[in-house]
Amino acid sequence: MCQERSSAKRMNNCNREGVCCGDMQMVCLTDFEEYAKEHLSKATWDYYAAGADECCTRDDNLLAYKRIRLRPRILRDVSVSDTRTTVQGTEISFPVGIAPTAFHCLAWHEGEVATARATEALNTCYITSTYSTCSVEEIVAAAPNGYRWFQLYVYRDRKLSEQMVHRVEALGYKALVLTVDVPYTGKRRNDIRNQFKLPPHLKVKNFDGVFQETAGPEEYGIPANTLDPSISWKDVYWLQSITRLPIIIKGILTKEDAELAVEHGVQGIIVSNHGGRQLDGGPASIDALPEIVDTVQGRIEVYVDGGIRTGSDVLKALALGAKCVFIGRPAVWGLAYKGEEGVREVLQILNDEFRLSMALSGCRNVAEINRNLIQFSKL
Ligand SMILES: Cc1cc2nc3c(=O)[nH]c(=O)nc-3n(C[C@H](O)[C@H](O)[C@H](O)COP(=O)(O)O)c2cc1C
Repeated sequence: MCQERSSAKRMNNCNREGVCCGDMQMVCLTDFEEYAKEHLSKATWDYYAAGADECCTRDDNLLAYKRIRLRPRILRDVSVSDTRTTVQGTEISFPVGIAPTAFHCLAWHEGEVATARATEALNTCYITSTYSTCSVEEIVAAAPNGYRWFQLYVYRDRKLSEQMVHRVEALGYKALVLTVDVPYTGKRRNDIRNQFKLPPHLKVKNFDGVFQETAGPEEYGIPANTLDPSISWKDVYWLQSITRLPIIIKGILTKEDAELAVEHGVQGIIVSNHGGRQLDGGPASIDALPEIVDTVQGRIEVYVDGGIRTGSDVLKALALGAKCVFIGRPAVWGLAYKGEEGVREVLQILNDEFRLSMALSGCRNVAEINRNLIQFSKL
């Protein structure tokens, strides 16, 4: 934690609408978190920060990384280091992408357009959330050369999901990320207390016009009960029947489901507990990673998200077998700080920290990162 930063200094330097942030020096991701907490409205901050119920899993996502100890190697000439890797056959500059998070316009007026530009500039992967406050067309137009996957939910109205799939396929999205841990939305206490709602000037832009006729209760910007809780493995076959894009399942936490994912012919798994926003009491995602990697045995790529806040967290996740990691909340904090530039800074800081951690543990490239780096006796 970077507690030494003075709050007074932050207060002098910025405004909530993201116009000017002065010359604050952001050193680590926690600086962006503190900034966002101070400058977003309480309801918005609470929405981004929320975990389910008592937030045990949300908090354990971070603590679990702190329990892991590394076994650094020395005298290995780390004068040159290379952080590049590939995901689904495409090269990215370092193994950190942006996880799908909803409602970026709450943090910064340009919203997902700014996120897309930042990830294009840093040459990494941006998973666009279905619940974006910019449309997928606007996102692609803003960053035409960006490498993107699209996060999908399965709706009771399958046509709605199908139309989204065809739209993003036509726009050049390179994979579908099927989120499977939300048959129902987790219970986030502060959102209930705050009666959290999108402000009237913002919309779930991808569904502009779709729900206009619908009256009745809504949940996070769309009518309640739009998601289909009866979704099952057969829907993976259905999805395969309507797209040629690779399918990546997000929200697997057990070896049993990892095996089923491989058997159902998907191309990747994101080990995730949704940032602790769904089932409270489930494992930290980094703790679930090893059994999934052991089960999958390299047949498909395995990624992880949840609680990654430093470059050494990235190193630990790769050492435990993740091909790439994804960050959720830190990207939103970057947006809240300075829009596109803020997200770039968040990514750049993680990249620099990751490169340093690699070098300090004797790794010259990502291929040299493996389980020998982890001190299992301490786990
Ligand atoms: C504010 C917020 C909104 C999110 N929205 C989505 C979403 O629309 N779709 C999805 O699959 N996951 C969503 N997630 C989960 C993230 O993709 C990711 O799993 C999680 O944020 C990773 O944890 P981290 O925030 O600790 O990095 C959301 C998470 C947060 C914090």
